[in-house]
Amino acid sequence: MLTAPAKNDYRLGFTSLASETNLAALPIEGSIPPWLTGTLLRNGPARFEVGSDRYRHWFDGLGMLHKFGIGGGAVSYANRFLRSNGFVEAERTGRIACSEFDTDPKRSFAEALGDRLSGRNLTSNNANVTIVPFRDGYLALTETIAPVAFDGATLETRGELAYDDALPGQITTAHTHYDRARRATFNIVTQVGRKSQYQVVRIPDGTLRRELVGSVTVDKPAYLHAFSTTERYVVIVEYPLVVNPLDLLLRRKPFIENYRWEPGRGTRIHVIAKDGGATAGTYETEAFFAFHHVNAFEEGDTIVLDISAYADAGIVNDFKLDNLLADEAGKIARAELRRYRLVPGRSAAEVRRIAAPATELPSIAPRTATKPYAYAYGVDAAGADGVATFDALVKVDVRDGSVTRWFAQGAYPGEPLFVARPGGTDEDDGVLLSVVLDANAGTSSLLVLDARTLSQLGRATVPHHIPFGFHGLFR
Ligand SMILES: [Fe+2]
Repeated sequence: MLTAPAKNDYRLGFTSLASETNLAALPIEGSIPPWLTGTLLRNGPARFEVGSDRYRHWFDGLGMLHKFGIGGGAVSYANRFLRSNGFVEAERTGRIACSEFDTDPKRSFAEALGDRLSGRNLTSNNANVTIVPFRDGYLALTETIAPVAFDGATLETRGELAYDDALPGQITTAHTHYDRARRATFNIVTQVGRKSQYQVVRIPDGTLRRELVGSVTVDKPAYLHAFSTTERYVVIVEYPLVVNPLDLLLRRKPFIENYRWEPGRGTRIHVIAKDGGATAGTYETEAFFAFHHVNAFEEGDTIVLDISAYADAGIVNDFKLDNLLADEAGKIARAELRRYRLVPGRSAAEVRRIAAPATELPSIAPRTATKPYAYAYGVDAAGADGVATFDALVKVDVRDGSVTRWFAQGAYPGEPLFVARPGGTDEDDGVLLSVVLDANAGTSSLLVLDARTLSQLGRATVPHHIPFGFHGLFR
């Protein structure tokens, strides 16, 4: 039996937030650097039940957009649910109506038939994972194909957009990579069927046209949450968390439950040229699992690839809400930051551990993407017993593995994003922005840290909690 979270309880971060607000000025403790001007947008789940139906997994919750407006040392805040079809149908019917990552709606045969005849689109577009700029607004993305457009000023949902192509495929990643030189966004679209393949696509600026760059055919497609790019290549890491295509097409179980951990397959790493799409190399290494790549770059013809790696895919189950909310929750698995080197002519990837603490929800200074770099930022789950969430911010010097951390009792941070100080030249001359739950107070704050030391500069506090989210962007 689950009970309501007590004070000082991290579980508040996995409970729903009903209200939509618009606050001109948040109370500030310390100070926000006057040079810090822009908007922090965040995406993440915020509603974990509909009527008496409950979602099963952190990743399933209905998406909410959050906006922190920062300027002149002041901070405003607004939030709105994304009007995904999952949200709209939940409001209309009072039940979970769309399939999510680990939850399927409970539908009788007659209800399922009625859904079909009504023509309503019940394929989830609960795009609660990432945000990317698009034309005069933004897209919210998840792993189902359709992006959902929203207005950056009002956070109002503009609606689902259809891609302007006939590319097959049912699954994509929410972690796109922008390529300034090619004026295009790269992504992977997985087609599951009689022929299954990972398709590398490029989407020219301002369009929704996915142009096929190259592909890798596969018997059992892996679950891919993210991938890497370098200046010349796309790097796909194929963990042995795989699905029999027929199981996914028949969908007798929620999406992720169809995947199986088959460590005997090991992990394969595919390197595909951005120009021309040829496979430039395939490498093998031991079985492991990751959601997130940290960065990748080229050293001559060798590719260096940094990943937040787990020994296995158990972390997927760790994030089930029954586990996260349990009275006696187990700790969640900790990733380690690993470096893989892909040397042409060798079939085995070289691997070493950069640092032991987790660097989950990893980020880097944006200008270091695809380049040699010094610092990775992230969250760790160092945790007291019974705390099943992230409880520290970390900065890892990837050159020597040294770790700086920020920790406060009862504080549970989300993805840190680095913002460079204008005119600064050092890679870490700037701030880290992270939304942190203060479980003692029952509120969340935008925390501003000096990225050099992870010391606190200031925080702006929202009058309620913000459920733990995933990713965002600062502009
Ligand atoms: Fe992610």
